Amino acid sequence: MTALDSEEGPAVSERSGEQAVLEVRDLVKHFPAGRAGLGLRTTRQWVRAVDGVTFDIAPGETLGLVGESGCGKSTIAKLLLRLEDPTSGHIVFGGEDVTAFKGKSLLAYRRAVQAVFQDPFASLSPRMRVRDIISEGLRIHTDMTKDEMARRVADVLDMVGMRPDVGRLYPHEFSGGQRQRIAIAKALALDAKMLVLDEAVSALDVSIRAQVITLLKDLQRELGIAYLYIGHDLATVSYLADRVMVMYLGKMVELDETVALVDEPLHPYTEALFNAALPAHPDDHDHLDTADQATAEVPSALAPPPGCHFHPRCPEAMDVCSSIYPAAVTLQTGRRIACHLHPGD
Ligand SMILES: Nc1ncnc2c1ncn2[C@@H]1O[C@H](COP(=O)(O)OP(=O)(O)O)[C@@H](O)[C@H]1O
Ligand SMILES: [Mg+2]
Repeated sequence: MTALDSEEGPAVSERSGEQAVLEVRDLVKHFPAGRAGLGLRTTRQWVRAVDGVTFDIAPGETLGLVGESGCGKSTIAKLLLRLEDPTSGHIVFGGEDVTAFKGKSLLAYRRAVQAVFQDPFASLSPRMRVRDIISEGLRIHTDMTKDEMARRVADVLDMVGMRPDVGRLYPHEFSGGQRQRIAIAKALALDAKMLVLDEAVSALDVSIRAQVITLLKDLQRELGIAYLYIGHDLATVSYLADRVMVMYLGKMVELDETVALVDEPLHPYTEALFNAALPAHPDDHDHLDTADQATAEVPSALAPPPGCHFHPRCPEAMDVCSSIYPAAVTLQTGRRIACHLHPGD
């Protein structure tokens, strides 16, 4: 337990009896978004990308993060990776607040929490050989000799199912799936405790995606590494994740163990998402014609509807839903939910 524990934190650290790898408390990120109004009466507008989100990630677990495009998933990833600073709230790692890390502590944190993004071209320097890409972190963070680094590079390439001699090649000489393996090898080289996987397999063909997912699962079993897995493909998320957090317009709406959540989604948004009644991704146009709700008002983090943000699209909305945002509660089953239909027990 840390001094930063809020009264109503999620139950994961108590459940597993282990200290969480990461504790996120009331995390907020608002981006400035121009001004609204006329003449002197303009007011600054804010995109509430992440608006008070609380969760833990336990050692060796996968937390899946799902929700429609624009709901704040990547912003959470960037905040956890310290690529963005939060507007408010806390990210606690090893009992200390990550947002205060500088110099050595920040370096140690960056070593422990690594990322794999959707586009390996963006994260793998095109002019560097694979072995130099993978050993980059080793040069920064360790005092390994050249030989030790070469051995480590060969080891992590082996871990992701690649031969050591590919180290002399450049990223463009590989397929998308292989490049993602290289990105994973790079993330593993420093014995990370946690990987943030933001749509890491979303751009891959289905069969290649399945291979990389299997690899991630095997690596987790071997290394006990924790994952924050962000994806819009619910089948993949449910296969990989121990627990799933569902977000809607910057807020957590529901969080539980994957099996329980998939079995019995309680929040109407989760239900809609799992029934594919709403597009989980803007590219999924198939669902648009079939779901009435999906044609309702386009949700925006710039001007979220008053009350529960989901109420204009919610088939079960009540009067209270349009005026009061439902507080997040933990049900007896351990389910976290923010919905007036489930006020807690
Ligand atoms: N740097 C930024 N400046 C302004 N708005 C941003 C910035 N990054 C993200 N946003 C906005 O924040 C919201 C959440 O975005 P994002 O976290 O990328 O969502 P997701 O990954 O779930 O699709 C969106 O409305 C997006 O336009
Ligand atoms: Mg994103």
